[in-house]
Amino acid sequence: MEYTKYMADRVKTMKGSAIREMFKRMADPEIISLAGGNPAAELFPSEELSKIAGKILMTSPTLALQYGTTDGYPKMRDCARERAAKVNSVHEGDAVLIMTGANQGIDLTTKALINKGDKIIVESPSFIGSLNAFRTYESELVGVKVDDDGMNMDELENALKNNDGVKMIYTIPTFQNPTGTTMPLEKRKKMLELASKYDVIILEDNPYGDLRFSGEDVPTIKSLDTEGRVVYAGSFSKILSPGLRLGYIIAPAPLAEKIEMLKQVNDVHTPMLTQLMCVEFMKKYDIDKYIEKNRELYGKKCRTMVDAMEKYFPKGKVKWVVPEGGIFLWCECLTITDIAPIVDRCLEKKVAIVPGSNFATDIFAPSNMFRLNYSSATLENIEEGVKRLGEVLTEML
Ligand SMILES: Cc1ncc(COP(=O)(O)O)c(C=O)c1O
Repeated sequence: MEYTKYMADRVKTMKGSAIREMFKRMADPEIISLAGGNPAAELFPSEELSKIAGKILMTSPTLALQYGTTDGYPKMRDCARERAAKVNSVHEGDAVLIMTGANQGIDLTTKALINKGDKIIVESPSFIGSLNAFRTYESELVGVKVDDDGMNMDELENALKNNDGVKMIYTIPTFQNPTGTTMPLEKRKKMLELASKYDVIILEDNPYGDLRFSGEDVPTIKSLDTEGRVVYAGSFSKILSPGLRLGYIIAPAPLAEKIEMLKQVNDVHTPMLTQLMCVEFMKKYDIDKYIEKNRELYGKKCRTMVDAMEKYFPKGKVKWVVPEGGIFLWCECLTITDIAPIVDRCLEKKVAIVPGSNFATDIFAPSNMFRLNYSSATLENIEEGVKRLGEVLTEML
């Protein structure tokens, strides 16, 4: 049966994530992946979580296995509030909602705010999960280029001035996915000023903010907001475990109320077992100490990757910015327009990277950029993967 004619308009323009497509081609265990966005599995507190899960199921089976409330288990909401309060990102009048990953929070916030044809300003490039969520609501994406220090403010102002119907700016200001860049304070203030002038909402997505391994912390945009203009998405994926699927949205109460109703329709509530596990983990252990271990490891892995890039990449042909945190490095090949043949050749040489087109507003336009991830591979595989990649770049650039 031919299904295309039955498909809803909202999914016709969607393209499956090339990253997931690549995973299918990566069944070969010899392939070194620098492509994904996974945190370092070697640091997962699996023993602690296993004991906690066992205890919860023995002592509180009904709480863990019964339906829960849509806005989240109250103690889990306190945990999320605590994380957000550490970066002054929860204000009076805000509600905290537990989400099944920040992804769900971004999706439901968009569902609550965006009508077909509304425009959303996004960093170009940006996180594919959010871009795909925005696409499913048939919004129009307006891309604003990312400089070495985050979204370009002149282009943002032009985008706001020249586009009717902009409702939201979506930004990942700290250790952005995919570029690894961080917006300095002045730019954050400017973004707020522009959002206020043009009366649009900012959706600030901050899953990597805790993962700084060099430089100084910068206040979140939400912490600078005095108008209730910023919706904040947080996540436990990169500071505890992505498989627990725990994220949160902090939004002014009237908006949060609608998001909660949408979540009720969507999945009723986030699994109680993982919420209880996170609460117990944060009660029993110092999560900041655990995060510190991640930061140290990511700093080391990032340095290993950058050193290897300096050693193996052809001189003067690839540009990159060294991140101060997070899990990604973004590279631009200066002498070509399309990275696709290089990505294919890399797979033949058994190393996987992600082409920049995946993160663009126009996924069909060729890109000369690619993303590298340093959090999930071992130090040895980072060195070997970059060596293989360097050989391909030397051959093809
Ligand atoms: C920028 C960004 N936002 C949100 C998410 C989703 O996080 P979660 O696992 O909490 O859904 C990711 C995951 O990679 C991400 O990179």
